[in-house]
Amino acid sequence: MLCPFFFFLRHSISLVTTPPSSTIPFTGTRFLSNEELEKLKALESFVYLLDLESGSFSVRVMRNDEMDLTAESFAESMLMPLGYGILMRFLVKQYLIERRTVMPRAVTLVGYFTDKDGEKGNELAGTVEVCFDERGANASPPTPLPPMNSPYICNMTVTKHLRRYVFIATKFLNYVGGAIGWHLLKESGELISEMASSKELYLRCRMIEAPFNMYVKAGYDVVQTDNIFILLTLQRRKHLMCKKLPVFNTFPEWDSDAKVVS
Ligand SMILES: CC(C)(COP(=O)(O)OP(=O)(O)OC[C@H]1O[C@@H](n2cnc3c(N)ncnc32)[C@H](O)[C@@H]1OP(=O)(O)O)[C@@H](O)C(=O)NCCC(=O)NCCS
Repeated sequence: MLCPFFFFLRHSISLVTTPPSSTIPFTGTRFLSNEELEKLKALESFVYLLDLESGSFSVRVMRNDEMDLTAESFAESMLMPLGYGILMRFLVKQYLIERRTVMPRAVTLVGYFTDKDGEKGNELAGTVEVCFDERGANASPPTPLPPMNSPYICNMTVTKHLRRYVFIATKFLNYVGGAIGWHLLKESGELISEMASSKELYLRCRMIEAPFNMYVKAGYDVVQTDNIFILLTLQRRKHLMCKKLPVFNTFPEWDSDAKVVS
């Protein structure tokens, strides 16, 4: 059972009046249609808040002024050899800037964790990229490729020291499940089911245990795997995984006795 302390503060899509053409927002590379403008407003007001005994965790869309922080956090989590950090941060930031121009067709979400003691303040805990349709898709995506126009999730990472963090439930909760990665994945799926018409959701997964286990647990199935010859192109082998979204998306609940530490 989902507890009442899972606050889904998703503001409903606020219908905006049709702007005269001269005021149609310009994202820097293109003008937005009315439909895109509505989606953009919905995305900007999207907030997911999980209130816990041990602190709180929230997910929302990355803002313009958070690109440096997000790039730094993402680069740090990539286990690059010493000295490559600055280059990686630069490249990730360029990528984030480029991806922001396709909003609201794709979006980067950021997750923040604040511990109850407040010692560390509001800490960037993870990021994930969500693509809603073909026009938001990456220009040169790695293989295996999802079908055209299908929404997908990519580039998920959780800040190293917060991986496998144990959320502590409030005493009013009889159930809480998953940690930062799980909730980022869950919210990405929920957002896609609200924003995209396709009911098939894809993601690529490197052939490593942590994300693979998480995706399988969340209901994703492997539909394709990179050929071994991909290694010759200096790329890692990956699985393409898919999950069918029900009309009203539900995320598998955790085992009732999992991770409840209240
Ligand atoms: C994969 C990743 C996002 C998981 O984030 P997380 O916050 O640690 O995940 P959670 O604590 O919410 O765990 C959710 C589930 O994932 C799986 N999982 C997470 N870490 C795992 C690990 N080290 N080994 C095995 N399974 C793991 C488990 O099934 C877990 O459920 P459980 O706790 O009931 O066993 C994180 O490890 C990460 O950022 N890794 C590096 C980047 C990466 O690989 N991204 C995915 C790209 S494909």
